Amino acid sequence: MAIVLGIETSCDETAAAIYCGENGLLSHTIHSQIPLHKIYGGVVPELASRDHVNKLIEVVAEVCEESGIGLSDLDAIAYTAGPGLAGALMVGSGFATSLAMTLGIPSLPTHHLEAHVLIAMLDVEKIKFPFLALLVSGGHTQIILASALGEYKLIAETLDDAIGEAFDKSAKMMGMPYPGGRELASLAEDGDPKSFDLPRPMINRPGYDLSFSGLKTAVFQAWDKSDKSDETKRNLAASFQAAVVESCCSRLSKVMQNVTADTLVVAGGVAANKSLRDNLISLAATNSYDVYFPAIELCTDNGAMIAYTGYLNYVNNSAVMSDVMQVKPRWPIEDAFN
Ligand code: KG4
Ligand code: ZN
Repeated sequence: MAIVLGIETSCDETAAAIYCGENGLLSHTIHSQIPLHKIYGGVVPELASRDHVNKLIEVVAEVCEESGIGLSDLDAIAYTAGPGLAGALMVGSGFATSLAMTLGIPSLPTHHLEAHVLIAMLDVEKIKFPFLALLVSGGHTQIILASALGEYKLIAETLDDAIGEAFDKSAKMMGMPYPGGRELASLAEDGDPKSFDLPRPMINRPGYDLSFSGLKTAVFQAWDKSDKSDETKRNLAASFQAAVVESCCSRLSKVMQNVTADTLVVAGGVAANKSLRDNLISLAATNSYDVYFPAIELCTDNGAMIAYTGYLNYVNNSAVMSDVMQVKPRWPIEDAFN
């Protein structure tokens, strides 16, 4: 049974994990760079790369110690090769490829979005291909049909901002610190979602694609004209969240009626959002779909999803093994196994 070390450095988390075919996820740890980027109001790519350099060895040593697995026990090392920030990816890729070469084992360049989607399958045997995946993160918003391991069809994506980005930028406009999405969601729980009449982007457009930049602009205008009180902030947060959730569910509902699948997997950082979860559960029930979400701590970027996806691809011979460092800042999910 293979043992795989996973390394994630695509953006602002330095993360590692060890997955073992026999005993499952043995350890995982995440070092978040949020405090580092907070004062700039967003991720500063050069600082992100430098912090990965500082923290990666520590994070890998931690997962080895916690799991009791030594480097010589490893069968392969999976790392995020893309999509993501080029410099940040280069740190993980260079480290993983060199270590694998030293140990005489394969390195597995792993697709970050494939990993977000597949982590929902960890310990959940009921999830079988084909299934629909809604990927909602800070950098991506996509609806994907996963037909088999390595076979993904992009059905829809955002034409502009990702959902997480829209959450973060709206939060920033209302004075919340980076990343802001979670804080906005928490304020929204105590606000009135009907208090602001915000647009439901794309809802009546043909096709399945999504868009959030117009909604973001509407939030900016509403906030600009408002009294900026705490109550207004809660109400605008709730109205924004309701618009995002409604827009997303309406597009997904259309997809569900037109593809052959009966399972929905929701992945990425915004999959932690309670309102989105509740509405997707209702939507799935209406369309006779089963719906699955990863554990909350595995929704945002983590090493477990890389170790697990690397493991699946390694044992199913669908891994692209390569001695050459792979860094693919733009890497469509349809080309994950290429
Ligand atoms: O998947 P992720 O860790 O990073 C990317 O690969 O992009 O997602 C991070 C995003 C951020 O935009 C963050 O604000 C958002 O997920 N997020 C949330 C919540 N928790 C995290 N957005 C809305 N509600 C939440 N509860
Ligand atoms: Zn991510």
